[in-house]
Amino acid sequence: MAATLIESTGVVPVVVLESASQAAPLSKALLAGGIPVIEVTFRTAAAAESISILAEDARLLIGAGTVLTERQLDAALEAGARFIVTPGFSARIVRGCQAAGVPVYPGVATGTEIQLALEEGLEVVKFFPAGTSGGPAAVKALSAPFSMMRFIPTGGVGQANMDDYLRLPSVLAVGGSWMVSPELVAAGAYDEVTALSTAAVEQVTHSRRRVKEDS
Ligand code: 3PG
Repeated sequence: MAATLIESTGVVPVVVLESASQAAPLSKALLAGGIPVIEVTFRTAAAAESISILAEDARLLIGAGTVLTERQLDAALEAGARFIVTPGFSARIVRGCQAAGVPVYPGVATGTEIQLALEEGLEVVKFFPAGTSGGPAAVKALSAPFSMMRFIPTGGVGQANMDDYLRLPSVLAVGGSWMVSPELVAAGAYDEVTALSTAAVEQVTHSRRRVKEDS
């Protein structure tokens, strides 16, 4: 269910919120730009409260990112997170999510990590940090032996290069902070968030149309 909406949206905004008061205006700006998905990272003390505010909005799919510990996982689930993202692979966190019945997308960058994810029964992983781990060429190469796996490349992805990832059939969606950068959020530049989100969604549509035409 989470993966279906993430795939249809094509882009996962990765958000760092300094204050839970930023959560509602930011989600409004993303929704106005056509993005109903948000990953709030556990990098600030405001994460759990922000997630609980956003979980109230039925239009949104709210996830928790940068989940490193079981304590953060518990806080994320209690706050209402509907998917969990980790920067690296942790069998402990993966199993905790599976026990709770919540989708988890661990970060992987190597064949070994993908194989560990497969052994846990996962079908979707985050490819992180995408830009410095070989970019689209690495996703393409890893997709040959791991043809059953779908990827969410994140880290160094932006408007200019998202198409390079989205044209790969194994890419479920791309993730990134470019439409919700800390600078934009700190400045309360929500119109800009909406404009960047609109552009990202348009690029997703364009990339997928081209993939369809080429196939
Ligand atoms: C992160 O962990 O911060 C995300 O992967 C986003 O990366 P980005 O800022 O390069 O988009």
